[in-house]
Amino acid sequence: MVQRFPTARVVFDVAGGMGKLNLALSARGLDVTTFDRRWKHHDVKFAERLFTLAEPCTCDLVVGMHPDGATRVIVEYAAQHRRPFAVVPCCSDNGMPYRPWLRHLAALGREQGLVVDEVDLPMQGRARVLLGEPQKAA
Ligand SMILES: C[S@@+](CC[C@H](N)C(=O)[O-])C[C@H]1O[C@@H](n2cnc3c(N)ncnc32)[C@H](O)[C@@H]1O
Repeated sequence: MVQRFPTARVVFDVAGGMGKLNLALSARGLDVTTFDRRWKHHDVKFAERLFTLAEPCTCDLVVGMHPDGATRVIVEYAAQHRRPFAVVPCCSDNGMPYRPWLRHLAALGREQGLVVDEVDLPMQGRARVLLGEPQKAA
């Protein structure tokens, strides 16, 4: 994320669980807020609530690591606010198998005006990252 979005400073980590991704990104100098309902978490900036499209946009990058039911909202939120996103999907919210779910999310981003591509992370498990950015003005 820091390589791909080098100008990003303020990050929303959606469905961040205990805040491990927050710790990792904060250690690289980013200002990160994690959104999740978990009351038990690392000592990081943490919004103890569900993330929705109604969340005021004070970030310049939206990210999610295996964000379960929040995956779609990350793509929609990024498109709505013209922000880049990086999401590592796991399970779908509509019963789709993994690969069709990835294609569905990429298409959703493109339909909403984002340029979307994919990269594999060097880790076990579901490791494909979808990366989206608003189209640059011509
Ligand atoms: C599989 S866990 C991943 C947690 C963390 N990102 C990680 O990789 O360890 C999925 C998390 O999504 C959270 N979640 C699901 N929908 C959410 C939403 N709309 N807003 C915030 N958190 C959500 C759940 O509470 C759960 O902690």
